[in-house]
Amino acid sequence: MSIADRPAPGTARSPGISYQELLDTDTHEVPEVLRLESPRYFGSQDMPVERYTSREWHEKEVKYIWSRTWQFACREEHIPDVGDYTVYEIARMSFFVIRTAPDTIKAFWNSCLHRGRQLKEVDGNCAEIRCPFHGFAWELDGSFKHAPSDWDFSHVTERAVDGEFQLPEALVATWNGFVMINPDSDAEPFHEWAADAVDHFQRWDLSDRYVEAHVAKVIECNWKISQEAFCESFHADTTHPQTAAYLGNPNSQIDVFDSCSRVITPAGTVSPMIWYEVDEEQIMRAMMDTRVDEDIPFDIPEGDTARQVAVRAARERWRPVVGELADHWSDSEMIDNFDYTIFPNFHPWGSYNRIVYRFRPNGDDHRTSLMEVFLLSPFTGERPPPAPLHLLGPDESFTDAPEIGMLGKVFNQDLGNMSKVQKGLEGSKKGAVTLSDYMESKVRWLHYMLDEWIGSGEQAETGEGTAVTL
Ligand code: FES
Ligand SMILES: [Fe+2]
Repeated sequence: MSIADRPAPGTARSPGISYQELLDTDTHEVPEVLRLESPRYFGSQDMPVERYTSREWHEKEVKYIWSRTWQFACREEHIPDVGDYTVYEIARMSFFVIRTAPDTIKAFWNSCLHRGRQLKEVDGNCAEIRCPFHGFAWELDGSFKHAPSDWDFSHVTERAVDGEFQLPEALVATWNGFVMINPDSDAEPFHEWAADAVDHFQRWDLSDRYVEAHVAKVIECNWKISQEAFCESFHADTTHPQTAAYLGNPNSQIDVFDSCSRVITPAGTVSPMIWYEVDEEQIMRAMMDTRVDEDIPFDIPEGDTARQVAVRAARERWRPVVGELADHWSDSEMIDNFDYTIFPNFHPWGSYNRIVYRFRPNGDDHRTSLMEVFLLSPFTGERPPPAPLHLLGPDESFTDAPEIGMLGKVFNQDLGNMSKVQKGLEGSKKGAVTLSDYMESKVRWLHYMLDEWIGSGEQAETGEGTAVTL
């Protein structure tokens, strides 16, 4: 292609059937939320590797991102009873999220107002908040209750009258069963900040799901490298070659909204990158991970497609649990992949994928990260208790977590890249990464947002603008 023939940057699309064209073949009514298209071109410039490797950049993220943004701390079901609490940590900050009344959840900074000991280390239930060091105590709502040997703390009891010894709080919001917290008490309310996601997920109520699995692993790379491994499907044809026979990886639709973005990857369709012929049976075999010596799990009637058969099977699978919804939802919602990201690190998937990701720095270390995957499943009858955290050890891989099924094999393929990306970037002669204009626009969106937040934070503080590098 000559330069003159090149389409405007960001407008080129992969050969093959687009997601919107696939929707045209849907046998059910397609909801408006899937018809939305919101591509965004952020420019084609390179991005410096220091974002992933430097301590200085990490410190900026701690100060302007982790201290100021809404973060998924736990599910409401993790703290069902009054007095239940769970610890959420991000970089150097620690909070405990506690149900203080049947309909009230608060998040407190996890540091005693006496000499600073962490108040809570592990999840549990309490009738009061009492520090294990010298016994200072607070009511569940954070109001000051008691200082042992109060004859020596008259200055404290005096100050407590004015509320000065109230435990400091982070903002809390609940949405779709998620408990969101924000360390910044001046932050925009969550439902306003996340308005697009709030609107889209009206279609998919995740509050009536339960945590069927919760698996985590420390990964030897910056949190953004972990996260970005799940923000584009472009890598799948190479990293997960088995998916090329049943996922339209380069045909994914990428949409960018204000505080969220999404990648929609169609299933039961062949990647245009595939170099061999596949028939409908092979698509089905690949989709179901069926070995050559195993029978195909579903027959494909003459003239039918693997996608349609898989859609019908998904409807049958979910009908006993979700009832008539199984007959109302579009084909796409039954089998396609809807990976949303709410800035900075929260990834609730839409529809029945059941996946939720959360990526964070591993403690205060910018060269390692904590990747977590939750499976949120529908249920009938009484809500099953949430699965406890299964933290994989350094020598364990995702296939040591059978509760996530086939995902384990896929994640292990991703795991094969992540620490190598960190290593490669640390030793990069080029000193920068290059991104595609469309397929990787969700990755670029993340960095655009980081620039916006860090730039505006620095500007507010110093009166000087920071050079925005994207
Ligand atoms: S540090 Fe908490 S009571 Fe002393
Ligand atoms: Fe992957």
